[in-house]
Amino acid sequence: MAAASAPGKVILFGEHAVVSGTPALGSAVDLRATAEVVEAPGSLLVEVSDLNLTVERFSVDLLTGDIKSSFAADALRSTRYVSAVLREFDARNLKVKISSQIPPGSGLGSSAAITVATLAALSKHLGLDMSRWDLAKSSHRIEKEMQKGLGSPMDTALSSFGGYQLVSRQVESVNLPPIDLVVGYTRIPHDTWSEVQKVQSLHSAHPEVVDSIYQAIGALSKKAVVLLGEEKLPELGALMNVNHGLLDALGVNTRELSELVYAARGAGGVLGAKLTGAGGGGCIVALPGDRGIEAVVTAIRQAKGIAFRVRTGCEGVRLEPCSRS
Ligand code: MEV
Repeated sequence: MAAASAPGKVILFGEHAVVSGTPALGSAVDLRATAEVVEAPGSLLVEVSDLNLTVERFSVDLLTGDIKSSFAADALRSTRYVSAVLREFDARNLKVKISSQIPPGSGLGSSAAITVATLAALSKHLGLDMSRWDLAKSSHRIEKEMQKGLGSPMDTALSSFGGYQLVSRQVESVNLPPIDLVVGYTRIPHDTWSEVQKVQSLHSAHPEVVDSIYQAIGALSKKAVVLLGEEKLPELGALMNVNHGLLDALGVNTRELSELVYAARGAGGVLGAKLTGAGGGGCIVALPGDRGIEAVVTAIRQAKGIAFRVRTGCEGVRLEPCSRS
């Protein structure tokens, strides 16, 4: 028996441009996925108990008995990552129990956290000594396979190492102070692969235009490291607003994301707000100012989003005590 947990993430600056090699700054946040591996002679099971989902709608086909629900689709997607990890080790006679505080499909790194936590728990169970580097490398390879070859090592590096990571062609840990943020989920799952494809097509059609947007986004990430290091939060917030505009220019913003961004900015005292992750749905992130977090949470809820308070710079993957059940 062994259990491990790994954090989700927010991308603070640089998404999409990072795929072309310019830097992006991400942080691990205090929402975690947990995987527990237990002996189950004669079977190979994945049990998903809690994915922090609000089931808004489900339908039953009364002729076939099929149930259609977003929960079922999200739970199924999560099990695919677990099954890819189990295949990697040719594991048998096991049950993997997954639970997660990170809503799947939200862009908060749920699949990376589940992959890293499962790898860590399974390697401990099998008596293998995998370092954080090994976990980051293997989980990135698995994620890339699942995402048809696309994707930066951002999410898996953040789930493995925690803290803040500056990702370009390589991954570099940066020592920066933690901050409190509010994440607003549009309730619309996003599809990283199709958003990345969309931006890549725009790049192929207009490389001279899109390359300069990438460069500008990369410059924002580098400047953000300096500003956050000096705790110049108003300036950092202003750059978040610029980054949101550039992501809009790349075509990954949506009406729902904009509504949450403008609701957060209108909450009073907010220093900046932008979409985070691939876009097309998923989440925004807002940096609250002096008037506090509560006003932003309320504004996001009034705009029909799901609001989470998160703290940045959290611990990466770690072993956990096993449950008794
Ligand atoms: C998705 O979380 C971030 C993207 O930049 C893709 C990636 O970095 O893999 C859109």
